[in-house]
Amino acid sequence: MALDRPTVPNDLSAFWMPFTANRQFKKAPRMFVSADRMHYKTADGREVLDGTAGLWCCNAGHNRPKIVEAIRQQVGELDYAPAFQMGHPKAFELANRLRDLAPEPFEHVFFTNSGSESVETALKIAIAYHRAKGEGQRTRLVGRERGYHGVNFGGISVGGIVNNRKFFGALLNGVDHLPHTHLPENAFTRGQPEHGAHLADELERIAALHGPETIAACIVEPMAGSTGVLLPPNGYLKRLREICDKHGILLIFDEVITGFGRLGSSFAAEHFDVMPDMITCAKGLTNGVIPMGAVLCQAEIHDAFMQGPEHLIELFHGYTYSGNPIAAATGLATMETYAEEGLFQRAADLEDYWADAVHSLRDCPHVVDIRNMGLIGAVELEPIEGQPAKRAFDAFVQAYEKGVLIRVTGDIIALSPPLIIEKAHIDYLFSVLRDVLQNLD
Ligand SMILES: Cc1ncc(COP(=O)(O)O)c(C=O)c1O
Repeated sequence: MALDRPTVPNDLSAFWMPFTANRQFKKAPRMFVSADRMHYKTADGREVLDGTAGLWCCNAGHNRPKIVEAIRQQVGELDYAPAFQMGHPKAFELANRLRDLAPEPFEHVFFTNSGSESVETALKIAIAYHRAKGEGQRTRLVGRERGYHGVNFGGISVGGIVNNRKFFGALLNGVDHLPHTHLPENAFTRGQPEHGAHLADELERIAALHGPETIAACIVEPMAGSTGVLLPPNGYLKRLREICDKHGILLIFDEVITGFGRLGSSFAAEHFDVMPDMITCAKGLTNGVIPMGAVLCQAEIHDAFMQGPEHLIELFHGYTYSGNPIAAATGLATMETYAEEGLFQRAADLEDYWADAVHSLRDCPHVVDIRNMGLIGAVELEPIEGQPAKRAFDAFVQAYEKGVLIRVTGDIIALSPPLIIEKAHIDYLFSVLRDVLQNLD
């Protein structure tokens, strides 16, 4: 490799971009160069309204002073401390803060660096927990069709998005999937759909098939985000909880998207009043500014590991950057910003206005379903025959050109703005979207 090769300005070829149509992007790049509160600025000086909180993560918006200052201070004070067998105060402070924010039973926090790592961590803890309790035969995992649990091998094994799985071999064995909850009879429902609680009973069928005593955990997103916003039918999550309880199966809620105010409460567990045994989170934990994730555990799970000689490690798992000082400082400043500005309540207060705006697109061409909850919305389009995902991708590019950042997955437009959004921004976002939908092929 020629190390002396000169760097070519504007050469985009080296960076292999994640989850991106690289060739299309590099022909017509969409570059953000700065951001403040609700807006990005593009390389050519245009403002783009952030309709997606970055990637479902910048819940407090961009360039928030407390967060920026916390990072500046922390990097000059303690830039890094070893994560194993050593500590630093802010990781403990943040863990306490999360324990206090989360519903009561979640007393312990394991730090990771992403949603994907949180999922791997929770799955490993589930299996090791049963083993610690003398039930080492509980190794099976249950996920759900259309579920997204990140991109590592555990996550894609329990996940159910076909393209995220089919290119990557045989995946983990001993994994089964519940059916997804997307039913046509629920089309255009505002908030939680009526039909589909019975789909949770499939867990009984899977338990009977393998023997319930072989199943370690069932993992679901309480509201499936990345697949295109699928809400849990009324009663569905409660039913899952009951079946898990009946068979000693741990229930894991993947709250990487729903955590930190997206649905108008700290976590979806609280919103739906169903307590899992573990919650995975990331994204809004640090407002997306510094990578960080976490697994929140009930005491019973944590305590099962706290046995044997005290000088020995209890859980052989962790990351070089678990609880990294800069990430912890960012997380603390993020929690302060959410609390000071009452952003979770703000999301709840705006829910109706938001829902009206999302559902106002019902009469637009190509729209076959609309879904919403909290500050989340999805507009599902009819695919162009023979060209799946093309229509929504065109909508994405056109919206960007007209000054709004949306996200698309397949032929579904997903919206999840920062929780600081104003009504005027909502009006603007949906007037642009209406315009885009009316001009699509
Ligand atoms: C529910 C859920 N789990 C896990 C992940 C993966 O998070 P990350 O991209 O931080 O690894 C995501 C990302 O969107 C997610 O939505």
